[in-house]
Order: sequence, then C-alpha cells, then structure tokens
Amino acid sequence: MNDPLVYLNGEMTPLSEAKIPVLDRGFIFGDGVYEVIPIYKRRMFRAEQHMARLFRSLDAIGIPNPHDLDQWMALINKVAAAYPADDQMVYLQVTRGVARRAHAFPATVTPTVFIMTNPLVLPSAEARAAGVSCVSMDDKRWLHCEIKSVSLLGNVLAAQYAAENEVTEAIQFRDGCLTEGSSSNVWIVKNGVMAGPPKDNLILEGIRYGLMQELCAAHGIPLEERRISREEVFAADEVMLSSATKEVLPVVRIDGQPVGNGVPGPIYKKLYEAYQAAKAA
Ligand code: PDD
Repeated sequence: MNDPLVYLNGEMTPLSEAKIPVLDRGFIFGDGVYEVIPIYKRRMFRAEQHMARLFRSLDAIGIPNPHDLDQWMALINKVAAAYPADDQMVYLQVTRGVARRAHAFPATVTPTVFIMTNPLVLPSAEARAAGVSCVSMDDKRWLHCEIKSVSLLGNVLAAQYAAENEVTEAIQFRDGCLTEGSSSNVWIVKNGVMAGPPKDNLILEGIRYGLMQELCAAHGIPLEERRISREEVFAADEVMLSSATKEVLPVVRIDGQPVGNGVPGPIYKKLYEAYQAAKAA
C-alpha cells in the first residue's frame, strides 16, 4: 500500500497529503521524540512499555504530552486498523511544534503529532540461519542516548558506515566499552552468561532490553548488566542484536572476524524461540 492513511494533528490523511510547516522545530532543530512499535497479528506488542518510554522521552525534553495513554492507544489503533497488513511497524513522532526559529523553547507552542504505519519487515530466514555481519566503530553521538530523540544524525552516520561496508549493523564503542548499534541493542554471551551494557545515558533502553531480561530469567540464562570491553566483544562466544525490527538476531562476524564458531549459538536459538512464544502469547 503506497499511500496509507496516517494521523497528523487530529486528522487522518493519505501519507502523500500529510504536510507540516517548514518552521516545525522537528524539521529545523530535530526537536522531537519518536517510537517504533511492532504490531503482530493486529495487536501491538509491548504497547505499555513503548508508551512509558515515549512519556519518559517527552518528559526528558520538556514537551508537554499531548495525549493520555488511552488517547494514544486509540490513535495508534486507528492508524493500524486502516492499514491492510496484519503485521506492522508503527512509527510515531512528537515534535515541539511550529514557531519562529530561535533555539530556546517558544513560550507557547502546540506539539506536532504524527503517526504512520508500514509493513513489518523482519530479517529473512537466511539471515537468521546464517547470522549477520557487523562492523565496529567509535560512538560519536551525544550523551543522552537514553532519549528516543529524532535528532539521529550520529545513528544515521553509523548506519551509513555499516551500509557502505555491506553489513547489517555498526556496533559502537565509547571509551573502549560497548554501547549499542545504530538502531539496536547489542548483547554478548560468554560461557553461558549473557551480558548487556548498563541502562544509562549511553544507550537507548530498548523495549527488547526488558524483554531479554524477562526471557533470560524465565529460561535460567544468567544475565549481567555491566560495562563490556571491546576485547570481550571480540572474544565472546555469541553476539546478538535486539530491536523492534530485528527481534533478536545473531551476529557471526565483526570487522571480518568470526564470533565464536562463526555460526548462530545456542543461547541465541533459545532466546529466539522464547521471543516467538512471547509474540504468540
Ligand atoms: N530503533 N538502540 C537504538 C539506538 C535504537 O534506535 C533502537 C530501536 C534500539 C532498540 O530498541 P527497541 O527494542 O525498543 O526497538 C536500541 C528503532 C527500531 C528505530 O529507530 O527504527
């Protein structure tokens, strides 16, 4: 469907006709936040967690939340219901709104609210079976990666670096420690123990971060939240990515070097199965 109905500031409108003023602070300053929510079989997955993160992001940058939880759910469900696919990826964005260009917040301004949906495109069966390749790079982003901000230039440049290297993701390191991918969280496994970086200002706390914690607890996989050095990543038995669009995905090469045995590992397989069960529940 190339011209789906989207929601923009109170109206449902075909995507091709949805327009915002050029003075929108999202366009001028990247002054806004967003969410990406998967829908499986017409049901939002982990909706409450995504909404809680949206509310935290809005709060963190001082944009008044334009809707309560029920209103948000109703709006998202309206956009999703108008779309033909059962599995979707909802994108929603709130910017501070339209105002004369000046860096500091305007005194009065109404947030811009935009919601669209697309088919959910998951990794191919081949990518899952073989695992994917990544590159490593220095994390050059700002120090508030915990906010799901639309100011994504650092992430865009990291994703482009991965694309130019013909790999799936760029794994970033700050001061020699693992942070995250351009649009995913990164996990390692060593001797049966899973580890992810601390949920601090240096990474976005993925909704799948919490899900991995739950799935590990349910399946008796020890999980540590701690600083992970670059050396540990390269010496890991398994490396995985998690995100709304990747679910959980095995990494088998970084910078051309094999991870572990160079094939998807047993902890990945267990977590992928558990993920599919959680989707179906
Ligand atoms: N990205 N870290 C970053 C920088 C991300 O952009 C994302 C998600 C994640 C994983 O979060 P979650 O599990 O909630 O999807 C981690 C989305 C998919 C995107 O920007 O398209």
